[in-house]
Amino acid sequence: MRTRVGIVGGGPAGLLLSHLLHGRGIESVVLEARSRKDLESEIRAGVLEHGTAELLIETGVGDRMQREGAVHHGVKLQFDGRRERIDLEELTGKTITLYGQHEVVKDLVGARLDAGGEILFEAKGIEPLDLESGEPKVRFVRDGEEQELRCDFVVGTDGFHGVTRKALPEGARAEYERRYPFGWFGILVEGPPSTEELIYALHDRGFALVSTRSPQIQRLYFQCDPGDEAGSWSDDRIWTEMHARLDTDDGWTVNEGKIIQKNVVQMRSFVCEPMRHGRLFLAGDAAHIVPPTGAKGMNLAVADVRVLSRGLAGFYESGDTNGLDRYSATCLRRVWKASRFSWWMTSMLHRFDGDNAFQYRMQVAELDYVAGSRAASTSLAENYVGLPMAPELEASAEERTAQGAS
Ligand code: PHB
Repeated sequence: MRTRVGIVGGGPAGLLLSHLLHGRGIESVVLEARSRKDLESEIRAGVLEHGTAELLIETGVGDRMQREGAVHHGVKLQFDGRRERIDLEELTGKTITLYGQHEVVKDLVGARLDAGGEILFEAKGIEPLDLESGEPKVRFVRDGEEQELRCDFVVGTDGFHGVTRKALPEGARAEYERRYPFGWFGILVEGPPSTEELIYALHDRGFALVSTRSPQIQRLYFQCDPGDEAGSWSDDRIWTEMHARLDTDDGWTVNEGKIIQKNVVQMRSFVCEPMRHGRLFLAGDAAHIVPPTGAKGMNLAVADVRVLSRGLAGFYESGDTNGLDRYSATCLRRVWKASRFSWWMTSMLHRFDGDNAFQYRMQVAELDYVAGSRAASTSLAENYVGLPMAPELEASAEERTAQGAS
């Protein structure tokens, strides 16, 4: 089997890349280890940055998101018994859209299959080979048979635990990591929302977050021990903890409902540099992980593949390798800024083991400052709605136009 771009991993990064390449007339094949059903039901975060939502709309996969997603104009910070609103739209002119990642995945799978695209589900034992040659390949087993996909480029979008990052020789990559000493206990709840906008809360018992998935489903989280298991918290104990961290003196209380799913999310920051080796490119979680506090994970993946699709288009349209050569450096600048934002939000909103009352007061003072200062709340807001996708690419395009015009 042969294609131009072999994509390992059918999450949002891989599927969107395949979709964007199709829009530019470039053929690709997506290999995915899971079944279609498992892939489409994996519950992850659900906040789309302004630019992510725009890109889905512009490229024809945003219809259902526009119908069913909820546009949010602000977020709330809760601390020291108060709740303060950050008006994202007033501060940045931009909004965010609440729409589950697995819904984006369903829309992309549908669009690729409708367009005759190839997604090979349940491809096992995936092994990228000959990445430093002009003819890389991916070996895999499907339906009990060993197969080989030959291509011009391999793109690794197989997530943090995938195989592609490990195909970069150890001497050719540097990995930067920070693990946090806590996790998030997440629940999906049937019942009406507790609030119209997301609430990020710092409490002396730890962080809590109120989010939604739809008018009938709430998504709630609280900071937990990283070793906790989903089954170790009874529903009663969960609601007691939620009320303790979230309810306010003015009588507002988190709405209870039927808990339909529980999971524990591990928290880490991780970046692999560079995001390219020979003819292998990494994108999304395969290259970097952020803690969920800034809701940046999928948005970073989208930004990566947008840059990569342009680089590949430049190569196939005119043989120009400039975009591909700059891919890693271009993405990493944005990745590090989003890593900083996610780390900062995490540090400001969680209780760390060994923190004393002074540190807690510092966190409260920081939240008070962020909520009260226009400069500080604008800084939070512009990061939250999403920094420009690739400022240096836009700049170089402008420069090129300017040079062409002069
Ligand atoms: C979610 O709705 O799952 C969600 C929202 C905001 C976050 C993280 C997760 O920061």
